[in-house]
Amino acid sequence: VKLAEPWHETMYDLDFARTTIGSQRFRDLAKKEAAFLVSVLGLTPGDHVLDVPCGTGRHSAVLAKHRLKVTGIDINLSCLKLAKSACRGLDVTLRKGDMSDLSSCRGKFDAVVNLFTSFGYFSTDEKNERVLRELVATVKPGGQVAIHLINRDWLLRVFRPVDWSDQTGRFTLEARKYDPKTFYNEAQRITIDRRSGNAKTNYHRIRLYSKAEMVALMKRCGLKKVRVFGDFEGSEFKKYESSHPIYLGQK
Ligand SMILES: C[S@@+](CC[C@H](N)C(=O)[O-])C[C@H]1O[C@@H](n2cnc3c(N)ncnc32)[C@H](O)[C@@H]1O
Repeated sequence: VKLAEPWHETMYDLDFARTTIGSQRFRDLAKKEAAFLVSVLGLTPGDHVLDVPCGTGRHSAVLAKHRLKVTGIDINLSCLKLAKSACRGLDVTLRKGDMSDLSSCRGKFDAVVNLFTSFGYFSTDEKNERVLRELVATVKPGGQVAIHLINRDWLLRVFRPVDWSDQTGRFTLEARKYDPKTFYNEAQRITIDRRSGNAKTNYHRIRLYSKAEMVALMKRCGLKKVRVFGDFEGSEFKKYESSHPIYLGQK
C-alpha cells in the first residue's frame, strides 16, 4: 500500500515514534551522539542550537543538559508530544514546523543539527537542496551545521531488496527499491503486532547521498571547512564501511 505523499510528515505516528526514536535504546544512543557533537562543534554553555527535525527530543534534551539553549522543530505532533515530556524542565523550546521553511529562525543559531537520516526526504534534488539552504540560513556567520546521514555507498553494498525482522512483539517485512538514475530508495513496510494481529503499513522514499556528493552540496550551499566523521566515535570515514557518517560545515 503506497501512502500519499508527503510520507515523511505522517510516518512517525505515536506508536512508531515510541518504538523507534522514542525508545530507551535510542535515548541512550542520543547521550553519546549529542556529547560528541558538543565536543566537535566546540559548543559552550549558553550557545543556541537548533535541532531540526527534533523528533521525540532525544538529542534536544541531552544538548540542554550540556547547558545549551535548544530549539527543537518537528512537523509531527505525536513526536512533539513525546519531545515535550523528554525535555520537561530543560531550556528547550519546541515547536511545530517544516524543515523546508525555517524563515523564522534565520541567523539566530550558533549551530543547527539534522540527525538520524533526516535529510533527502523531499521529492526532487532541488527541494532537498533548498532544505539544506534553509538549515545554513538558520546559523550566524561562523555558525555550524551538522548532518548525520545514511551513506549511499555503504547501503548499496549491504542492500537487501526484501528484509524481515522479528523484534519482540512485532514482525516487520520491508520491500525496497533503489533507482540508480535518481538515487532514490523507496520502501514499503508492513508491521504486524504479534499479540493483536493488527497490521500497519508505511512507505518512505529517500534521496541517498554519497560522501562526495554531500560534501559538494554543502559547499555549494555556502559551507566551508567541511569535515566528515565515520561515526559518533569520531572514526575516520570509510566509503563502504561507514553506515551513518556525520558531516560538519561552517558558515
Ligand atoms: C528519522 S526521524 C529523526 C528525528 C530526530 N532527529 C532523531 O534523531 O531522533 C525524522 C523526523 O523528521 C520529522 N519530519 C519529517 N518531515 C519533516 C518536515 N518536512 N519538517 C520537519 N520535520 C519533519 C519526522 O516527524 C521525524 O520526527
